[in-house]
Amino acid sequence: MAQKKGSPKAASTVLDQKFWQNFAKNHWEKKPLVARNVKSGLLEMTDAEIFELLVAYSDRCREMNDPEGLKFFIDGAKADPEEVLELLPEKSDKSLLGYHKRMNAQFPDYCLVCDELLQVNLKKQHLLQDFTDDLFRHVGFPNRFSEIGLYLGNYRKTPFGVHVDSCGVFSFPVAGVKRFRLWPAAYGDEHPELDRTFNYEKHKKHSQLVEVGPGDMTYWPSSEWHIAESDGSFSATWSLGVWVDQTHGDMFGSALKDLVDTKLGSARLKVTTPFKALHDKSGEVGELPKIYQDSLKALKSLSAAELEEAFLKSWMKHISLQGFKTVPVSAVKVTAKSRLQLRSVRSPVLWQQSTGNKKAFSLSYGGVLVQSSSAGLLKMVKDLNAGKVCVPVQYLKIQGAKRDLGMLQELADAGAFHA
Ligand SMILES: [Fe+2]
Repeated sequence: MAQKKGSPKAASTVLDQKFWQNFAKNHWEKKPLVARNVKSGLLEMTDAEIFELLVAYSDRCREMNDPEGLKFFIDGAKADPEEVLELLPEKSDKSLLGYHKRMNAQFPDYCLVCDELLQVNLKKQHLLQDFTDDLFRHVGFPNRFSEIGLYLGNYRKTPFGVHVDSCGVFSFPVAGVKRFRLWPAAYGDEHPELDRTFNYEKHKKHSQLVEVGPGDMTYWPSSEWHIAESDGSFSATWSLGVWVDQTHGDMFGSALKDLVDTKLGSARLKVTTPFKALHDKSGEVGELPKIYQDSLKALKSLSAAELEEAFLKSWMKHISLQGFKTVPVSAVKVTAKSRLQLRSVRSPVLWQQSTGNKKAFSLSYGGVLVQSSSAGLLKMVKDLNAGKVCVPVQYLKIQGAKRDLGMLQELADAGAFHA
């Protein structure tokens, strides 16, 4: 059944504790949700601001001659990178609608997808973080990541047909009316012919049609089959995907693997295993080859503290991405005399003391992890996290300063500091 688009009179939805508790209990990975007139900073971004962002990102792509993070579909077919570069928004388009007019004149069915738009949006990123902070607090931190993209165009149907993703999707229309047709997982399982199809007339009666406009928000679980539909008029929509295809077992296993790799040393690279006998006459396999026995010995020598530290390090590195696939990067050149400041006090450089070596510690930001034992460097990171402007020369000893500056540069490249 179609749900009507919100009128100005529709009650507003405040994303407060109550909302999120209800969301986590009744909707997350369970069933779709439509919320009208949502009060969220994310929705306060005007279409003029979004146009500006798009032009800034497109300018960068043109400059680098690489449309990374941007896809353009014409009649459902993906355009080549060179073609994409020629079809991106330009300042002279003046607005989202201006850009649309230019594209619409050439293409009766086009779709521009911008995956990395918030990469250039340092000022607005906190709006997204406000939303995801609340979400993660209620449903848990994503073991994979979340990512936001802008979908824009006059396309009548999602270019790849009905499909299911491994992510739950929050969708926020910015301009125009957006329609999503949804089928629950069980229906999709029973009708595999739905996969990638554009011909689903006979399945329509089993679907839910969700119609949303600017100010509204919709969510569907990762298992929901879906397709976007339109009458050919213009729409622009933010889509936040929260990937749910990485289990705790995957996380734990990969942290353990990192630890095992460091413990095994060069033995881990061996591609054949020397042995005395594979089995005895009766077929019994009773003894491990020597290389296994040595590796086991290395594992057994791990202390509880060492184990915990390794997992903590892996967790720290994971959360340093703040639940995103990427965090915005900024070009900051670190020198001994740079005046460094954290890009945002909400995104501190994470750190962790080593248990084995009281002087050693690790620092992490944006998925980058560095290890040091420079007391001055740690003091500086703590001051930066407290919101202070720091000049490296005032913290770092001359000896080792080059190495410390190199680590600060790695954190800077990951986006930790102000440009
Ligand atoms: Fe999708």
